Amino acid sequence: MIESINAGFSTKAVHSGEIRYNEYGSITTPIVQSSTFIFKNTEEIKLLAAGVSDRYEYSRYGHPTQLAAERKLAALEGTEDAVLFSSGMSAITTTLFALLKTGDHIIITDDAYKRTLDFCKICLSRFDIDCTVVKMCDYEAIEEAIKPNTKIFFSESPTNPYLNIMDLEKLMAIFNKTNIMVISDSTFATPFNQKPLDYGVHLVMHSATKYLAGHNDILGGVVLGKKELINPIREYLKITGGVIDPHSAYLLIRGLKTFELRMQRHNSSGQIIAEYLETHPKVKKVYYPGLKSHPHYDVAKAQMSGYGGVVTFELEDNVEHVLDFMGKLKILNIGPSLGGVESLIPHPATISYYKISKEERLKLGITDGLIRLAVGVENVEDIINDIKTALN
Ligand SMILES: Cc1ncc(COP(=O)(O)O)c(C=O)c1O
Repeated sequence: MIESINAGFSTKAVHSGEIRYNEYGSITTPIVQSSTFIFKNTEEIKLLAAGVSDRYEYSRYGHPTQLAAERKLAALEGTEDAVLFSSGMSAITTTLFALLKTGDHIIITDDAYKRTLDFCKICLSRFDIDCTVVKMCDYEAIEEAIKPNTKIFFSESPTNPYLNIMDLEKLMAIFNKTNIMVISDSTFATPFNQKPLDYGVHLVMHSATKYLAGHNDILGGVVLGKKELINPIREYLKITGGVIDPHSAYLLIRGLKTFELRMQRHNSSGQIIAEYLETHPKVKKVYYPGLKSHPHYDVAKAQMSGYGGVVTFELEDNVEHVLDFMGKLKILNIGPSLGGVESLIPHPATISYYKISKEERLKLGITDGLIRLAVGVENVEDIINDIKTALN
């Protein structure tokens, strides 16, 4: 297997995890569309019961297409093990349920994915698991939030939608003195642009729905790290059941084959578009870690090798004008999500945060004029022309 060779990133993305000569000689990993795996004879049952054989039994406990995708993702993250889930939220909720118990405490940063915050604040509290929300990048507040029963620190970097960057060296200087497990949602960075585990972060997770699969066609989630940390999460998944299905696992494997190529395009187009928007008179402000104007530009430069395809910008604070601009776009699609080949442009105030009051929304920094552009892999000049025409 390629894992034993010191190969480049794209070579790993294409070959890692896959069995070079599988049973059928197919170059692609088969979609093993089966809920159960039958025993050839009763001897096989005895070997399984004795713990001698390591074979598939039932797809909720793992299936071959899932395993190939997990091995590929672990190789790309540069770690021992990975466990796949049916969505990013399934990865987060199963992991936190697996690692926390009644009476524990978790710290999470305020600038996290809304549904992750909802889970910590609403669902975990029902099991008497206490949650403290601290300000992203306020390292003093993070340290002060630690209690004797704190078990997990959870954060994202870069964050959504302001693309704030956690200084992982500073963060781990705090947590290396403790037994608290640090989990980083690295969805916006991907293993191509950032490797949190190299800084001592214990577990990294991604919504595989985004850049990893890359084609806006599946849902998936993954948690990665040392085998001993992944094992209890995998065991818990066997109970909670949020496994990835074989077809989605196959599409993830297929998407990963062009991962480096896609990320190079997302990174270069993101930078060009951010620089373009910064010069446009109708754009009030642009947030992109690759811009010198971003508050965490220096940290991003030191710990990331690229900044991805998400560019956040602000127009005049007027919902009608913003919707008018979005309605005029011919190439960019209006819709949530990011990291796919098609560019997407959601308006957080009316798409993701429409259920909460304007007052609450503004407290979270979601203004009427805020737009999050998820740059796809189309030709960058076409994306710019589309934006230019709609803005003018
Ligand atoms: C940073 C981040 N984490 C987790 C998730 C959840 O992933 P999924 O939609 O695959 O459940 C999202 C979804 O947008 C996200 O942006």
